[in-house]
Amino acid sequence: MDSGNSQELWNAVDEYIGDVVRADSSLAAALEASTAAGLPAIAVSPSQGKLLYLMARVQGARRVLEVGTLGGYSTIWMAQALPADGRLVTIEIDPKHAEVARGNVVAAGLGDIVDVRVGRALDVLPKIAEEERVPFDFIFIDADKQNIPAYFEWALKLSRNGSLIVVDNVVRNGDVLDAASDDASVIGVRRLNSMLEADTRVTATTIQTVGIKGYDGFTVALVTRDN
Ligand code: SAH
Ligand code: DHB
Ligand code: MG
Repeated sequence: MDSGNSQELWNAVDEYIGDVVRADSSLAAALEASTAAGLPAIAVSPSQGKLLYLMARVQGARRVLEVGTLGGYSTIWMAQALPADGRLVTIEIDPKHAEVARGNVVAAGLGDIVDVRVGRALDVLPKIAEEERVPFDFIFIDADKQNIPAYFEWALKLSRNGSLIVVDNVVRNGDVLDAASDDASVIGVRRLNSMLEADTRVTATTIQTVGIKGYDGFTVALVTRDN
């Protein structure tokens, strides 16, 4: 047994847990197709995907919004938590990623539930706000990190009292501590944290993670405002 906090040990534990979470074959197929299409290997891990699924289920979510689709791996996990008449809208800027994701979603039998929207999230979110009259129960923010504060504001607009908002990649190997950072991703995460500290419309926490995604973390925020 490895004595300490090595990346190899974290990877081995993640692989061990990965066998326990019962990812179905459509999830493995989605990763394979994404790799084959040359997409970067930056999807959530199987254990993180299962956590998204569990949170969406506990939430009783019927409507999910995702910002940052990639090949649809996290999308499929969350969509599997929805009832047959549920709806998941996911936004992706890269048409190639979106095409791969659509293929993976259809192959997973979720084509009727999932709507992959192509475009810059800050352009698509106002359209979604116009089109979708019913708030989202669960929102996963996982696109470009400098725009996390703006995506979080949109998540608040598109949610209801009791909605859950999850934001990925908010620890960034500990770089989040650097108040003087000129890294746009770190600045974005720190602005989110300033909002969370002050904003009484939400109550939130951040969990640090290690594993096949390195040292990172995610924020979970519950919308508590009245509306
Ligand atoms: N949620 C996915 C991973 C998303 S990776 C999963 O866990 O399976 C981040 C994705 O966000 C990439 O596909 C990238 O193309 C997309 N993206 C980056 N900037 C964006 C923007 N401004 N609008 C929409 N999508 C964006
Ligand atoms: C990157 C994006 C992610 O959402 C992630 O979980 C890991 C890495 C990236 O853009 O490098
Ligand atoms: Mg991510």
